[in-house]
Amino acid sequence: MIPLMKSAFSNELATRKALADFILQSPRLSMDMKCMEFEQAFAKRQKMADAVLFNSGGSANLAMLQALLNLGRLKRGDKVGFSAVTWSTNVMPILQLGLSPVPLDCDPLTLNTMSSHVSAAIRSHGLKAVFITNVLGFAGDLDQIRKTCREGGAVLLEDNCEALGTELPAGATGTFGLASSHSFFVAHHMSTIEGGMVLTSDEELAEMLRIVRANGWDRNLSSDRQLKWRRRFKIPDEFQGKYAFYDLGYNLRPTEITGFLGLLQLPALDAMIRAREANYLRLEKIVAANPDLFTLKHDHITLLSNFAFPVLCKTPELREKYILQLSGAGVEIRPMIAGNLARQPFFKKYVSESFELPGADLVHFNGVYFGNYPELTANDLEILSSALSHY
Ligand SMILES: Cc1ncc(COP(=O)(O)O)c(C=O)c1O
Repeated sequence: MIPLMKSAFSNELATRKALADFILQSPRLSMDMKCMEFEQAFAKRQKMADAVLFNSGGSANLAMLQALLNLGRLKRGDKVGFSAVTWSTNVMPILQLGLSPVPLDCDPLTLNTMSSHVSAAIRSHGLKAVFITNVLGFAGDLDQIRKTCREGGAVLLEDNCEALGTELPAGATGTFGLASSHSFFVAHHMSTIEGGMVLTSDEELAEMLRIVRANGWDRNLSSDRQLKWRRRFKIPDEFQGKYAFYDLGYNLRPTEITGFLGLLQLPALDAMIRAREANYLRLEKIVAANPDLFTLKHDHITLLSNFAFPVLCKTPELREKYILQLSGAGVEIRPMIAGNLARQPFFKKYVSESFELPGADLVHFNGVYFGNYPELTANDLEILSSALSHY
């Protein structure tokens, strides 16, 4: 059996032992210094000014949109474009917060929404924000998308939960938008069991994200920022300041376990990305020789941080053939993320408008994926190569 993932961590046993020791010895397990240290290390690695840690990638998405609403940079009813091929908790916060979701199609050969899709949607729908997902380590023409958003007056956000580490000549994914989200759920590029992070270089947004993350209060702000909020709302003293709630928030806090694991896993990230890229490039050769399958385009990407191998068949019937071939070889498979999200029951319940999304539909009906991780053995890669071959 080749499962979607084999282990939760790089260096599994040592990490679990270190975690057990940390839990036994740490005086405090709720959000504290380890979370802050992980935020700083992650922001530095990704060359962004600030990082805010959350308890999941989905929470990070919710918080980004809530923070923009709190700041008045988005208003209820505004139209937000999102990549139709994405995850549920990229789209759901758009609906939950009273924004209006507009699915953006993708180029099936890059799996991603491209600037042409974004500019057409800004023109026809008057989008106020574009919430792009960088799918399975692949990416669209992000520098052009950034330019298109800037010219069209739309805020660009990146859901980078599936592409931490991917690089384009113009920069790393997750650094093109005003802010980007990341997931550290097991089986992503690096794991803290559950966990998420927002990256941004916008100070005001980072401050609001910290308010949104914890109840709407100011406790996780620096003392000068706390003073600013307390003065603005004439909070007389610390006694009341500790229980002043300034804007809409949630409890989306991580624990010290998240921070501890993040700090432990981060130094291993580069090696894991390289191992996954090598697996991808090896299997891609088999795909390229197979007339039943599309070979995906990534010549605009300099480092492909893939964590699940996408198999895009030329027809839905051929997908049935490869589902049989892969599962028959003991390979655990699943749909390409969750297909075209505009086809999901929740979306149809809340959005009555219908959208033409031929690229996303092709991914929906012809796509399947299996796990790509550093622990794949030479024997696993042989089995996968054989299951991807044309017979
Ligand atoms: C594109 C995308 N966004 C958001 C998420 C949510 O991340 P989490 O599972 O950490 O909430 C995922 C999870 O797989 C994802 O693939």
